[in-house]
Amino acid sequence: MQLDFTLDADYWQQRYATGQTAWDTGAVTPPLRDYFVQLGQPDARRILIPGAGRAYEAEYLHTAGYSNVFVADVAAAPLHDLQQRMPSFPLGHLLQQDFFQLPSVPPYDMIVEQTFFCALDPNLRPAYAQQCAQLLRPGGTLVGLLFDTTFSQPGPPFGGSREEYQSYFQPYFDFIHFETATNSIAPRRGRELFMCLRKKYTQEMA
Ligand SMILES: C[S@@+](CC[C@H](N)C(=O)[O-])C[C@H]1O[C@@H](n2cnc3c(N)ncnc32)[C@H](O)[C@@H]1O
Repeated sequence: MQLDFTLDADYWQQRYATGQTAWDTGAVTPPLRDYFVQLGQPDARRILIPGAGRAYEAEYLHTAGYSNVFVADVAAAPLHDLQQRMPSFPLGHLLQQDFFQLPSVPPYDMIVEQTFFCALDPNLRPAYAQQCAQLLRPGGTLVGLLFDTTFSQPGPPFGGSREEYQSYFQPYFDFIHFETATNSIAPRRGRELFMCLRKKYTQEMA
């Protein structure tokens, strides 16, 4: 698929400036919240939330006591929004950077996906899976939600299927969970996969 516009920082900045942020749920979504709860005692694991937007997951994790939460976004506005809401969130953990340019050292223990993958040009999906693998330590976790549906309007968001996604992640990850989420927010019910993938200790050739 060839897009006739560019999904660059200006595009996303403009979406925030004009309030076109229909993806914004205003709170951490139940599937991620429930996953975080069952992790148990908060600790110092390094957690990255790429394409974080207003980063309600970061707000939740930081408030719970996770001390090493990082958010990355190409747009400044949502990062400022998080900073205003959470003055105690470390400034150095707000990364206004392109996900694909993030350094992989030191590695992360966990990456949280929420409506970022579906916002990317679909041609970048193999590179997304590869970059997640590069950023994680072996045994690290990629957890989050992926749309399991198609959209009638031109994207973003861009939809897809479980089979398509499996092909991108399989070279780098073992699949712990990859099934329809049971506790999605109403508009996404039955239309998103909860994924919890573990980075392989030895990678197959991509
Ligand atoms: C659909 S929004 C989702 C935001 C947030 N995850 C949420 O669920 O509210 C996609 C986000 O990804 C950001 N983004 C797009 N391309 C990016 C890239 N290459 N690197 C980092 N962030 C990017 C956009 O600025 C935007 O905030």
